[in-house]
Amino acid sequence: MKRFILNNQTIETDLPAGTTVLDFVRYHKNLKGTKIGCREGDCGACTILVGELVENFVKYRTQTSCLMPLANANGKHIVTVEGINKPNNELTEVQQAMVDESGTQCGFCTVGFVMSLTGFCVDDTEKSQEQAVSSIDGNICRCTGYKSIERAAERVSYQLSVASGQKNSVNNLDVAIERGFVPAYFSEITAKLVQLKQETNQPLTTDHRPLFVGGGTDLYVQRPDEMIHAEAQNLFDYSELRNIEEVGEFIEIGGSATVTDLLVSPIFQNIFLNLYKHLKLVSSTPIRNMATLAGNFVNASPIGDITAWFLALDASIVFNNDREIRLSELYLGYKTLAKTSDEFIKTIRFGKDVQHFNFEKVSKRTFLDISSVNSAISLKLENNKISEAHVSAGGVAPIPLYLKKTSEFLLGKKISEKTILQANEILQTEISPISDVRGSAEYKRLLLRQLFTAHFVELFDFQFLEMETKP
Ligand SMILES: Cc1cc2nc3c(=O)[nH]c(=O)nc-3n(C[C@H](O)[C@H](O)[C@H](O)COP(=O)(O)OP(=O)(O)OC[C@H]3O[C@@H](n4cnc5c(N)ncnc54)[C@H](O)[C@@H]3O)c2cc1C
Ligand code: FES
Ligand code: FES
Repeated sequence: MKRFILNNQTIETDLPAGTTVLDFVRYHKNLKGTKIGCREGDCGACTILVGELVENFVKYRTQTSCLMPLANANGKHIVTVEGINKPNNELTEVQQAMVDESGTQCGFCTVGFVMSLTGFCVDDTEKSQEQAVSSIDGNICRCTGYKSIERAAERVSYQLSVASGQKNSVNNLDVAIERGFVPAYFSEITAKLVQLKQETNQPLTTDHRPLFVGGGTDLYVQRPDEMIHAEAQNLFDYSELRNIEEVGEFIEIGGSATVTDLLVSPIFQNIFLNLYKHLKLVSSTPIRNMATLAGNFVNASPIGDITAWFLALDASIVFNNDREIRLSELYLGYKTLAKTSDEFIKTIRFGKDVQHFNFEKVSKRTFLDISSVNSAISLKLENNKISEAHVSAGGVAPIPLYLKKTSEFLLGKKISEKTILQANEILQTEISPISDVRGSAEYKRLLLRQLFTAHFVELFDFQFLEMETKP
């Protein structure tokens, strides 16, 4: 039995836990405001708000309901467009901004945009124009053109920053309620979720089912029909799997931590100076809100961005039975993993002394697109020489690659044009790209060469005297 609050109503349902929230609200609750576009997380037409109790505060984040299992709604506040509407059919501030700035034409995408922007109003991001526009990075419109929608977003951010009196406020939700961005009943949700949590909380069980589900953003794209009735263990909501903490010399992260959890983590912000710039290249806001680290690792896509990131941190993973291996040892062959079917990733661990880290990704579109080729690097320097090096690459082999020979070659070297060119030669021997829709094998070799070089330009402002052009 799943129990949650849908808009202003407490819901109990014994529908299969794998049913998508999209199908539930449209076909079981007749809430047709939430639209169906791609059913693959790409278009944002089905965007909803999900409120989750975190240390007695409700944190709202957007999610794509087409990829969200009902199991992940348990104990939460699910908000569809019907749940933000004002009485008497008045428009909310966000809806009014979309109308006034001509941000809607056929209207099919509009609900998704409105929900993403409403999410921006109540979440804990800075209320800047940049963040407002960023909040709609998972929504596609085919008729309006984005400028009018961006103007609506900028208007909303302006209204909010004026209303809160400061840009980044802890009481964003209170301000949003007070100013009518969301209805008054939102103020009663915390107490209701506290009560609900007591009823829905379950300890992490060792009674494993055949399939683990995190945020569902890979599984529901790959096998949507099968997922509805799959006998699955949903790992997304166990707080012990969402922690990010410093433990001695290490940073430990729960397997179900999401990309957004990294983005908002003070620990990560402290260590990774370009955190926002880099993670903004990964999917979109609603997908980052759902996409877990463990899901990215175990999906084992050769172009997994988060996998490339953690390979370069030389991270290790700890399974539920406490077996620990290096992440690079997880990949035996294409989608073949060094783990048994009842092992799930409990913790990810890496050394906190990260000195020079960079991530590069090239895709056909800059945002909301999977990588053609990606790469990450982590370096330590002592007396001007490289004392520790880890390099990863994606999209150039059947598995996400830890470039062992290249990493070893860099040890003890000074950063020079010669070192980079020689390392690039070694790197080319470690990869085996194939030609596919994302480019020819030759193009990918050239791309990785350029990305590897870009690491040094980014990290050390390295200037090349003469560039060789051949791959
Ligand atoms: C529109 C869209 C855009 C995307 N863009 C990107 C992108 O730019 N870069 C990128 O890297 N990825 C991208 N992805 C892929 C996806 O979002 C990520 O791979 C994500 O991290 C998967 O996590 P999840 O929790 O959703 O995985 P799920 O779909 O829940 O699971 C994926 C796999 O991991 C397993 N699993 C889940 N949790 C655990 C665990 N704790 N232990 C063991 N196994 C587990 C599942 O059984 C399954 O095999 C995109 C996806 C979509 C839909
Ligand atoms: S229907 Fe397109 S993102 Fe869900
Ligand atoms: S208004 Fe028609 S798709 Fe956006």
